[in-house]
Amino acid sequence: MIGRLNHVAIAVPDLEAARAFYRDVLGAEVSEIVPQPEHGVRTVFVELANTKIELLGTLGDASPIAGFLERHPSGGIHHICLEVEDIAAARERLRARGIRVLGEGEPKIGAHGKPVLFLHPKDALGTLVELEQA
Ligand code: CO
Repeated sequence: MIGRLNHVAIAVPDLEAARAFYRDVLGAEVSEIVPQPEHGVRTVFVELANTKIELLGTLGDASPIAGFLERHPSGGIHHICLEVEDIAAARERLRARGIRVLGEGEPKIGAHGKPVLFLHPKDALGTLVELEQA
């Protein structure tokens, strides 16, 4: 069912500093900072040869990553994103096995303009997993 690793997301307390670290220290190609108001975050994508890193910073007071950053003040791996061909079929397959999908269960449009779903970390080896329709 799953395809490529689309990205690994790292939540950071200072997105500008994180972007500069990947660009200037690690020598990676980085995107501009993009506000994602419907997700309460700002993102920077780091382009690697085989996948991407998504740097996540807060946007607004009620950012969904605020609690994570309180528990991980220096930042940390927030989720991984795996590609699937058909997100509705993937959801049905997972639900049939008792895996919880976060929210209403309807795919949202993610940071790449493609439908995404998140699996409950307690049902996915303690890891927040984002599925993105490739
Ligand atoms: Co993501």
